[in-house]
Amino acid sequence: MSLFANLPEVPPDPILGIASACKADSFEGKVDLSIGAYRDENGKPWILPVVSKAEKILTSNPERNHEYLPMGGLPSFTSAAARIIFGSDSKELKNKQIYSIQGLSGTGSLFVGACFLYECYDRNKTIYISDPTWTNHRSVFGLAGFKVDVYTYWDSSLKTISFEKYISSIRDAPEGSVFILHACAHNPTGSDPTKEQWQIIANEMKAKKHFPFFDSAYQGFATGDLDNDAYAIRLFASMGFEMLVAQSFAKNMGLYGERLGCLHILCKDSNSATRSGKFLEKMSRNIVSSAPRYGAEIASIILNNDELLQEWKQCLVIMSSRILEMRKALVEKLVELKTPGDWTHITRQIGMFSFTGLNTEQSTTMIEKYHVYLTKNGRISVAGLNEKNIGYVASCIDKVVRSAEAQSHL
Ligand SMILES: Cc1ncc(COP(=O)(O)O)c(C=O)c1O
Repeated sequence: MSLFANLPEVPPDPILGIASACKADSFEGKVDLSIGAYRDENGKPWILPVVSKAEKILTSNPERNHEYLPMGGLPSFTSAAARIIFGSDSKELKNKQIYSIQGLSGTGSLFVGACFLYECYDRNKTIYISDPTWTNHRSVFGLAGFKVDVYTYWDSSLKTISFEKYISSIRDAPEGSVFILHACAHNPTGSDPTKEQWQIIANEMKAKKHFPFFDSAYQGFATGDLDNDAYAIRLFASMGFEMLVAQSFAKNMGLYGERLGCLHILCKDSNSATRSGKFLEKMSRNIVSSAPRYGAEIASIILNNDELLQEWKQCLVIMSSRILEMRKALVEKLVELKTPGDWTHITRQIGMFSFTGLNTEQSTTMIEKYHVYLTKNGRISVAGLNEKNIGYVASCIDKVVRSAEAQSHL
């Protein structure tokens, strides 16, 4: 008998499990709105033209090789990534208060950050994640050994941030707790605090000496502008917080499978930043040994060349504008169909996702009856919509909403 024969069955991943079910579905008109990956107007993955250019530059370089990267990753990439997130005029960067290491995309950077906090901060602290949040947050921090709890984020009846309760959660958490904050384009709600609300959040966190750990997976996807989307991180930095930032280049460079990311630590002084950074490098050495080279080389070429950097920014505008158009088009279709309810939250929300408000039962019907794949909490990846499938998706939403209405009147 195997030592592992009695292991419990692992339930399908709430996001990837649905994407796999969609792949296996033979229905011709199926629509995949489950996974947070950009699709072009034909529903296809998009290789950013600027990435193709950088690949050509990379492969034609005779000096190129496949050697291991240093422990902290590719320095020309990590230093450029720090400028992208903290701003090239960042006082903290100039003062060397920030140490940056390459990570395995957003997830790997979060995990190394979590292990660092466990080892170097306080393993008895609770990690607070937003309710709701990206489904992996709980497991990543749990796996590192932490107790994970939630802070209130969402009012599902009003479909807005439940701001007062959010603030109460900050106040109620024990002093010095770790808060995981979505830097922009909150997943799954598509709703970020306003600038004024960020200021209040920061003030309250400061009063309780909480430790912010920013997760930046969608910089450039919320507003189409890298600087705007880094607003919260830069605000906290300017207020003297010490913090961690996990930065992913999966979505904004379309480098999903290349696993490109960065983990930054900001400390009050350069000496502490270097000491912490060396620990981060040690943890990364123990977990992945050496970060992947290919994506880092591509990003380094783009981020260190003014012309290519501008081109990348244009790509971000193309992606974020198409998503905005799809939001508008979906609401227009639902209004045309006179679908019961108010759907304006879809255009109020930003980033890659819309938290439609469809409940678990309605989402399940969308999948099982209509072959439209979304996560069971009603989240759709708006990037999966296009001119060809949007009419069908709207008509399916209309049907599941009407059928639920009819049942509630029985
Ligand atoms: C909020 C959030 N954080 C982190 C990630 C990590 O993404 P990756 O590891 O692909 O960079 C995602 C991906 O969907 C996400 O939505």
